[in-house]
Amino acid sequence: MLKDKTIIVGVTGGIAAYKVVDVVSRLKKQRANVEVIMTENATKFVSPLTFQTLAQNKVHVDMFKEPSNYDVEHISLAEKADLFLIAPATANIIGKIANGIADDLLTTTIMATKTKVILAPAMNTNMYLNPIVQKNIDFLKDLGYEFIEPGTGMLACQVYGPGRMAEPVEIIEYIINSFYIKDLSGQKIVVTAGPTIEPLDPVRYISNHSSGKMGYKIAEEARNRGAQVVLISGPTSIEPPKGVEFVRVNTTIDMLKAVEKHFPTCQVLIKAAAPADYRPEKVSEVKIKKKDEHEDELNIKFIKNPDIAAHFGKIKKDQILVGFAAETDNLIGYAKEKLEKKNLDFIVANDITRSGAGFKGDTNIVTIIDRNGNITDYPLLDKSQVAKIILDKVKNLLDIRS
Ligand code: PMT
Repeated sequence: MLKDKTIIVGVTGGIAAYKVVDVVSRLKKQRANVEVIMTENATKFVSPLTFQTLAQNKVHVDMFKEPSNYDVEHISLAEKADLFLIAPATANIIGKIANGIADDLLTTTIMATKTKVILAPAMNTNMYLNPIVQKNIDFLKDLGYEFIEPGTGMLACQVYGPGRMAEPVEIIEYIINSFYIKDLSGQKIVVTAGPTIEPLDPVRYISNHSSGKMGYKIAEEARNRGAQVVLISGPTSIEPPKGVEFVRVNTTIDMLKAVEKHFPTCQVLIKAAAPADYRPEKVSEVKIKKKDEHEDELNIKFIKNPDIAAHFGKIKKDQILVGFAAETDNLIGYAKEKLEKKNLDFIVANDITRSGAGFKGDTNIVTIIDRNGNITDYPLLDKSQVAKIILDKVKNLLDIRS
């Protein structure tokens, strides 16, 4: 995502500078070009060599050192930045920027840049809550500077409260998100994900292997592209993406009810979940006991669950309805049937017997079939790439309908 992007990381003098080492390492993993500017005070906490080794670029500290080439360093850095991150952002740097002070390489470069500047504050709670600091933050926010709010916790100064720098993962997510084109803003997208579970008795249930990964990636991509996202998920062990409305359900009927609540106000419904098609007719109130040795069978009667996609396919007006087909054979044949039967706008078929496709893994191999009869095969891709393809197709349909 960050390939060919130049991110300037301004490191200032706070203990959280050690966490920025991880931020730089993660930016490099995202294939960004990283230029680090450190204040003199920052070099007391972490050696420039650490950042230099990770960023694979020389670290800039001294405003007046002998130039290696004849451009003005703070201007050239300011111009080549696609994004400027200041982490940790101390009360001092926030105050300097707010007051137009440019007295070192970092502050002069910030002053000279026209790119987006994101600050990740980290300081003692009393300093952070100090009205002067808060006034400076509000003033900078009004000017378009962005802040990644600090967390609350036990700080290095042994005080509990707000002021702990956001975690590197959050900072990276924020940065990646800020490069997305918000082409789905104004759209409400409901995504279903994961399995459903149907109880047999208080200790047992039937379910399937869906991990929720496919649906969660769709929700994340839709959020990144500015959509208002509702993620309705059966039980999974993965963290729902931040910034989406998360609704946890158990059974297929629960899932139907949750979708029902949001369907009238949504523009798009994407059914990536694997809901159970059947449920036990009766759920035993007590644990079903093992039969005695003469009875080898346990018979449980199952009845059909509602087909959620088909239900909304029937009542949809101009909403876009996307379904999935998880098949073990006759992929295209069954997927086409489902496209018709459920009145979907397009269907994402995955042959779950193929290695790298379907349940649990981080990748999928899909074929998309639309209502014009187009059948497109995709190679093995990360589920996040599949999510992007699906939402590009949704965006096209939204554009055609508007
Ligand atoms: O969650 P992961 O581990 O990442 O795995 C991803 C996945 C394999 C679950 C996903 O890619 C997928 O294929 N989801 C659909 C699984 C499924 O239930 O397929 P189906 O062919 O049985 O159902 C067809 C469509 O009808 C699906 O959109 C399904 O959500 C929907 N359906 C099914 C049954 C039902 N009672 N109500 C429904 O709405």
